[in-house]
This record gives sequence, structure tokens and C-alpha cells, in this order.
Amino acid sequence: MPELGVNVDHVATLREARRAVEPDPVWAAASAVLGGADAITIHLREDRRHIQDRDLRLIRETCAVRLNLELAANDAILEIACRSRPDQATLVPERREELTTEGGLDLSARREAVRDAIERLRNAGILVSLFLDPDPRQIEIAAELRADAVELHTGQYAHAPAAERQARLHDLIQASAMIRRVGIQLHAGHGLNYHNVGPVARIADMHELNIGHAIVARSVFVGLEQAVREMRARIRER
Ligand code: PXP
Repeated sequence: MPELGVNVDHVATLREARRAVEPDPVWAAASAVLGGADAITIHLREDRRHIQDRDLRLIRETCAVRLNLELAANDAILEIACRSRPDQATLVPERREELTTEGGLDLSARREAVRDAIERLRNAGILVSLFLDPDPRQIEIAAELRADAVELHTGQYAHAPAAERQARLHDLIQASAMIRRVGIQLHAGHGLNYHNVGPVARIADMHELNIGHAIVARSVFVGLEQAVREMRARIRER
């Protein structure tokens, strides 16, 4: 069964809406662990729009499960990552004007920057995952760069109109098979929710799913611990 990484960035977004002290993503991480999260995921963005350096430091110190840090291959952020030593780092593209990460990394354009980032993170003892669209050319380069894991961007599947959903799922299945063939660990995430997670969780050798928005949205009504528990149950049902 795939592990569940709970992304708590949205809790920090709510706090930053008032530049206040609550709600605290550190509490959210603890609550997600109580609900059965296998990992906590946070994204330290260059513009610090949600997660702050203090959140990373405290979650690193207090998190009882694996910490997955999403980051851009940017010098200053890489330095912070290497110092903080999360268990895993997921390299993502980052544009200031985007609402959320909108696509996978373009490895053909950023091959050398990503190669350097992988080396720096790996030398700090951090497992490195690359966030990629389900595109065979990108996976070939990830294999050449010897990434430890690839997180497939599931946004196109999650947001596809019903008539196209199967085709987008097929893209994910094909890309997953390729990732397995080249011996890279398989992760997936973005746009997954309680209704669409099943088919992705069923993909052979799916190791980790990273989910944020749907869980935090449900937590407004049922609490975060329960929202995580319910997502875990959906993944278990597959
Ligand atoms: N994986 C990556 C690489 C992401 O950037 C995000 C969004 O921060 C997620 C997973 C989670 O996406 P969502 O919030 O849509 O569940």
C-alpha cells in the first residue's frame, strides 16, 4: 500500500493571511501524524508565502515521521535544505506568479542545475525525488541523473474532464512502468482527493502519495486527524 505524505502548506497559508501565529503548521504536522500520516510534506518557497524557515526548523525537530521538503533548485534554498536535513527533498519548478506548482520540472532545460542540486542534497544524506510530468523524455533524463525517486504530477489526471480521465490515467500508468524499469522509486501527487485517489493508489509499486489541498479542505469540517484517517482509508480500499 502506498505511504501517505500529508502536505500542510495550506495551514501556513491561512496563518499568513493574517500574519498571525495560528493556525500553526507545526501543530498540523503533529495532528496529521496522529491521523496516520507516513510523512509530512512542506514546501519552502523563495517568496515564503506560506511555510517559513521557523516552521521547517520546528517540524524537523518535532516530526515523528519522515519529512519531505519540496524546494526549487535555487542556491539559497538548497543551502537551507542541506542544513536542515529533511529525510527527503522533492525538487519542483517554482514561479512566483503561480497559485501552486503548476507542472513538472523541465529536465531538458534545467539538467545541469538539477544535477548539481541532486549532488548537494545527496551529499547531505537526503533522498532526492524529482517532480515530473508523466513524460518519457523527462523520465529518461531522471534516470540519467540517477534520481532516487520521481513524483509523477497527477494534476492533468485530477483535472481532466470525465471523458479524458482514463487517457490521463493511462499516461500515469505508462510513466510508472517506465520509472519502475529504470529502478527509481515511484511517488505521485497534486490534485488528488478522496474521489480520484483510488486508481492512482492502485498503480503497481506506487510508494508514496503526497496530498495537501483535499485533506486540509476536509479538515475544516472534520478536523485534520480525521481527514488524514479518511484519506488513509481511501488509499487502503484502493
Ligand atoms: N506534490 C507536489 C510536488 C506539490 O507541489 C504539491 C502542492 O504543493 C502536492 C504534491 C500536493 O498537491 P495538492 O495540494 O493538490 O494535494
